[in-house]
This record gives sequence, C-alpha cells and structure tokens, in this order.
Amino acid sequence: MTLYDSFSAISSTLLTVAKGTIVASTGISILLSGLLYFKQSSLIYPRYLPEGARTEVASPDDLNIRSWEGVKLTTKDGETLNSFFLKAVKPKGVTVLFMHGNAGNIGHRLPIAKVFSDQMGCNIFMLSYRGYGFSTGRPSEKGLIIDAEAALNYILEHPDCKHDKIFIYGQSLGGALAIKLAARNQEKVHGLILENTFRSMRTLIPSAFPPAKYLARLCHQVWPSETTLPGIREVPTLFLSGARDELVPPDHMKTLYNLCNAPKVWREFPNGTHNETVAEPGYFERIYEFILAVRKGQLEKIGVVRGAERKEAVDEKVGKKRE
Ligand SMILES: *[C@@H]1O[C@H](CO)[C@@H](O)[C@H](O)[C@H]1NC(C)=O
Ligand SMILES: *[C@@H]1O[C@H](CO)[C@@H](O)[C@H](O)[C@H]1NC(C)=O
Repeated sequence: MTLYDSFSAISSTLLTVAKGTIVASTGISILLSGLLYFKQSSLIYPRYLPEGARTEVASPDDLNIRSWEGVKLTTKDGETLNSFFLKAVKPKGVTVLFMHGNAGNIGHRLPIAKVFSDQMGCNIFMLSYRGYGFSTGRPSEKGLIIDAEAALNYILEHPDCKHDKIFIYGQSLGGALAIKLAARNQEKVHGLILENTFRSMRTLIPSAFPPAKYLARLCHQVWPSETTLPGIREVPTLFLSGARDELVPPDHMKTLYNLCNAPKVWREFPNGTHNETVAEPGYFERIYEFILAVRKGQLEKIGVVRGAERKEAVDEKVGKKRE
C-alpha cells in the first residue's frame, strides 16, 4: 500500500495524459504538462488511498497494544498531526520515529509498530503526516520536513525518551524523509533505518512510470536523497532492500548504499517486493540486531562498514549502476 497502489490507481489517467503529451503539438503538450505539473501532488501523495484512508484510522486498541497515547502534534506552521506514540512493553532505552510510505495512514502500519513496542522493547512514534489520516493540511516536501522535525522535537523532549537512543525508520517516501531529517539532526540521531527508498523523485519517475519519463523534469517534489545522504557522516545506517521491488528498482537502494559515507550495513531480502518486504523472514530480526548493535556500540559485530572502506568492492559488484 505504498507507491505501487497509488501509481496503479491513477495510471490510466496519467497514461492518457503522458501519451498525449508526447505525441501532441507543442501547444497541447505545454497544456498537458501544466496539468501534470499541478496534478502531481495527488500522484506523489495519494493520501486518499486505499479508500477510507482519510476517514478511518485504526486505533492501537484494535491491536491490543498495551501502552500508547494519541498525540496531537502542532507544527510551527499551525498544522495538527494526529499521531500515535506506542510505549515499549519492556523498555530498552530506544525510541524509534517511524515514517511510512506515501499512501494510507498510520493505522495501516500498526502491526509493524507493534513489533517494535511489544517485542523489541522500543518506544515508537508513528508520525501522521499533514493531509494524511486525521491530520490537517496538505502534503508537500517542505511540509513533511516540518512535520518530521516536529515529531523529532516531541521525542527529544518526552520524559520517557530523553535518555534514549533515537532511531529514524522510513519506508519508501518515508525513507526520503528520514534521510532529510537525519541529515539535519546528525548529532541527535543514533541510527537510520531505510527500506525500499529511492534516489530522488525525478530518477524514480522514468522507471516507476515509463510513459511519464519525459515529464520527470517537471516534477517539483524533489526528494533529493542521493545528494542529501552523503552528507550524513556519523549516523549508522541500515539498508533494507527487497530484491523484487517492482516499483522502486532495487538499484536505487544499492546506489544510496554506495553513496553513504556513514557506518552502514546492507540487508537484502531476495523475495521482498516494494510493499511486502516487511513480511519477509528475518526482517525484524535484522532491525533488532542493528538496534542492539548501535545501543551496545558493537557495530562491527554485525558487519557494519565505514562509508568509504568498502565502496570499491561494492561498486564492482553493482557494476555501472552508479552514476
Ligand atoms: C500492499 O499491501 C497491502 C496490505 O499491506 C495490500 O492490501 C495491497 O494489496 C498490497 N499491494 C500490492 C501491490 O502488493
Ligand atoms: C523465496 O521464495 C521461494 C519460492 O517461494 C522460496 O523457495 C525461497 O525459500 C524464498 N527465499 C527466501 C530467502 O525467503
């Protein structure tokens, strides 16, 4: 229920628009490109999908989550983000900021969050972006960054998390946001967990949606992870990659891994698709071992390498994918 669903839902409209643009006369093409320019927000942030995503948000009580609070987070520009804060059952001194993909709402991700709170001993803050679920406002790249900053500040000031190790965990679009947030707060964040995220929105469009490739340059939502990520120097980063991701080609993750200058570890799930890598065997174990290794300062035990160290070796393996 992430990028894939959204793209398939709007694909027929976009296909028509895109084909039209490519073959049409210049005048019409400018008109259609303009249409796409203004429509792209609903493509990139399909917050009304799946149906009911803005009117129904599951509650942690529905999943018998033991200890949680609803948080009305107020952003500096006045939006109200109706988020969830799940408390660790047996706290291990870790708090995770969880940022989901571009469709659905936080309620859909409760089963994932519950593993953190009930099984891994982590507090987990589920950020409900502006314009998603029961949060006010409209999503945009700039707005989501404000939201993420507000969530991080909330965690940093919360009495239960003050002395915790802080991790940022982002899936797909949430991964792009996680990279941005970690880059801006490197001294406050202890670990970064990225799943099936992309190099940038512009580089994603041609592969995720070939008919629109000539329009990629019109994309005003940049999400420039491949330029932001190398600026992160000290935050250990876990890369969770589904080798069968049908939406974000897995070489996007490989490229990001290669560009990463911080201590990093690569975990690949051979059968993982864009949406369901989270359900692959070993997924949560890999996250848990990473969290424990960061907490205990034993990164070398799980094969974490320093950015530059293994760059060449990995480059050889990945071939010429890196630009
Ligand atoms: C994505 O996952 C949701 C449930 O997690 C499922 O309902 C949906 O069909 C999945 N979509 C794809 C394309 O796999
Ligand atoms: C991937 O799927 C195949 C076919 O279902 C299965 O045999 C294999 O064990 C799976 N691999 C992993 C690593 O889960």
